[in-house]
Amino acid sequence: MARKKVLITGGAGTIGTVTRPGLSERFDLSILDLKEVEGVESHVGDIADVEAIRPAFEGKDVVVHLGGDPRGQAPWESVLRNNVVGTRNVLEASRLAGVGRVVFASTNHVVGFYPEKDESYRAVFDGRFGDVRQPMELLTAQQTRPCCLYGVSKGFGELMGSFYHDLYGISFIALRIGGVLCEEGWERRWPSGLAMFLSHRDAAQLLERSIDAPASVGHAVVYGISDNTMKVHELDSARRLLGYRPQDDAGVDLALDTDAPAYYDIAHGWLGPGGKRV
Ligand SMILES: NC(=O)c1ccc[n+]([C@@H]2O[C@H](COP(=O)([O-])OP(=O)(O)OC[C@H]3O[C@@H](n4cnc5c(N)ncnc54)[C@H](O)[C@@H]3O)[C@@H](O)[C@H]2O)c1
Repeated sequence: MARKKVLITGGAGTIGTVTRPGLSERFDLSILDLKEVEGVESHVGDIADVEAIRPAFEGKDVVVHLGGDPRGQAPWESVLRNNVVGTRNVLEASRLAGVGRVVFASTNHVVGFYPEKDESYRAVFDGRFGDVRQPMELLTAQQTRPCCLYGVSKGFGELMGSFYHDLYGISFIALRIGGVLCEEGWERRWPSGLAMFLSHRDAAQLLERSIDAPASVGHAVVYGISDNTMKVHELDSARRLLGYRPQDDAGVDLALDTDAPAYYDIAHGWLGPGGKRV
C-alpha cells in the first residue's frame, strides 16, 4: 500500500518536533509553518491567509493540524487570527484540495474549568490526592467548560470540524491533548502534570493511530493523555475509536522542588515555590 502523504501544520513546533521521527517512518511528511524546518518538505505560510496556504494541501491524504497559538493565556487578537481563522482556513484548504481527514490538536482547556472549580478534579490539581473521591467520574469528550479564550477557540475548532464533516464528508478527529513539553520530567513537578502528561512516544502513537484509523471513524473527539494513574479525562474513546494503546503513566509521585523559581503550569498559569499560585 502506498505511504500516506501527511501535511502537518505547525510542524516546526514542540509536538511536531517530538513526533516527527516516529511518524516519518510510516508516512510521507511535509510541514506548513511560519518557519522552515531543515530536512523535511516545508511550506512557509500563515494559516490566517487561506489563498497563500492552499498549495501546501494539494495531493495530501491527511492533514494534522497543530498550527496556532498554544498559550492558555493567549490574548483575543492572537486566538482569533491563529486559532479561529486559522483552523477554519485549514479546513477550507483541506476541503478544496480533497483531503480525506483532518486530525486537530484540541486541548484539555476545552474542559479546563472543571478542574479549576469542581471537586474531585480540583483535589487532583491541588495535589490533595487523599481527598479524591473514588472511583472518579472521568471527564468525557461530550463535556465542554472552557477556562480561557484559548479553550474557547479550540472548542470552536471542534465545532467547525464537526460542521465540515457533516457538510462535506471530511473525516475529522479532534484530540484534546493534555501536556507535551520538549523535555519529559516536567510532569512530576506539579500535581496537574501527573494528570495531563502525554509522553512523546504516546503522542506519536496517538497521531499515527488517528492518521490510520479506518474511514468508518468519520468524526471523533477524544482525549490525548498517557495512561496516567491520576488522570481526570477518559481514555476509553481513544482506545475504542482509534486503537490507542498508551504505554506511559506519569505515576503518583511528585518531585516538587521548593526552591525552584516560578514555573508555568499548563492548567493554572504561573506557579511559585511548592506549586502555589503567584
Ligand atoms: N504542547 C501541549 O502541551 C499542548 C496541549 C494541548 C494542545 N496543544 C495544541 O497542540 C498544537 C501544537 O502545540 P505545540 O506545543 O507544538 O505548540 P508550538 O507553539 O510549539 O507549535 C505551534 C507551531 O505553530 C506555528 N504557528 C503558529 N501560528 C501559525 C500561523 N498563523 N500559521 C502557521 N503556523 C503557525 C508556530 O510557528 C509553531 O511552530 C497547538 O495547536 C496547541 O494548541 C498543545
